[in-house]
Amino acid sequence: MSLFTLLFSYLFRLRSIMRRIGIKDCEDKSLDMIITVINQKGGVGKTTTSVNLAYTLAKTKNTALIDLDPEGGATVSFGIKREKKDYPLGGKSVNIFNVEMFPAHIGLLKVELNGDIESTVSTLRKIAESFDYLVIDTPPNLGTLSVSAMMAADKIVTPITPQPLVLEAAKNLDSRLVSLNKRAFAVTNMSKKAVNVDYSAVKSIDITIPQSKLFSEATRLGVPAVRYEEFRVKKPKLGSLYEKLAKMVIE
Ligand SMILES: Nc1ncnc2c1ncn2[C@@H]1O[C@H](COP(=O)(O)OP(=O)(O)OP(=O)(O)O)[C@@H](O)[C@H]1O
Ligand SMILES: [Mg+2]
Repeated sequence: MSLFTLLFSYLFRLRSIMRRIGIKDCEDKSLDMIITVINQKGGVGKTTTSVNLAYTLAKTKNTALIDLDPEGGATVSFGIKREKKDYPLGGKSVNIFNVEMFPAHIGLLKVELNGDIESTVSTLRKIAESFDYLVIDTPPNLGTLSVSAMMAADKIVTPITPQPLVLEAAKNLDSRLVSLNKRAFAVTNMSKKAVNVDYSAVKSIDITIPQSKLFSEATRLGVPAVRYEEFRVKKPKLGSLYEKLAKMVIE
């Protein structure tokens, strides 16, 4: 890592700490954009997408990632242990790889069971105010946490894989999104060929993330695959795909 990169990274962290304790700098106009990654079908790549998207966005903007899945996939992907303590939503965060990471904790189960969508949406919006981008990883269901994340979202990304059940789930998600007047970008994951969906609210974008063993290797080491690839591979490919995704989503 060069001296310049190191200095940049420290300044970036300092700025994020200042914001968290309420000190604003003269350029402080956070975008507060919430990007929710959702699909009620399990194992399609929600966590992988959230983690790598947040890591990519954090290279240039003040970015946070909140793990709303009590299983804590995104938390583990950042090398953090799932918190056994009962924090309020957004009650604890750690800065890692420039991403302000809000790990999963036991308190999420209470929020899920409590069913108070309105207050969960408002808490998520409040958390987002301190950042340019808040990426939300959601559990594989359409319960309180997922629906709140969907309602709070400015942008929604749904990873899809080429299986009939996944397409059926995307159709159901589409109905929910229509009823909430929201739209989602569908990103093909774990496939060479793009999966095209063109429903009312869920539409494919031209990004296809191939199957790669780098994802599982990176998760085992607790680093985002894009970061792992930067060190591990001579000609990185995943990085530019997630950059393209980030660009399409935030536009
Ligand atoms: N493009 C890919 N290539 C290879 N493996 C992948 C890819 N994307 C995701 N995976 C792997 O597939 C598994 C499921 O991915 P991930 O955890 O991101 O899905 P998820 O939708 O968050 O699952 P859950 O619904 O259980 O939270 C993980 O082991 C992950 O490493
Ligand atoms: Mg997950």
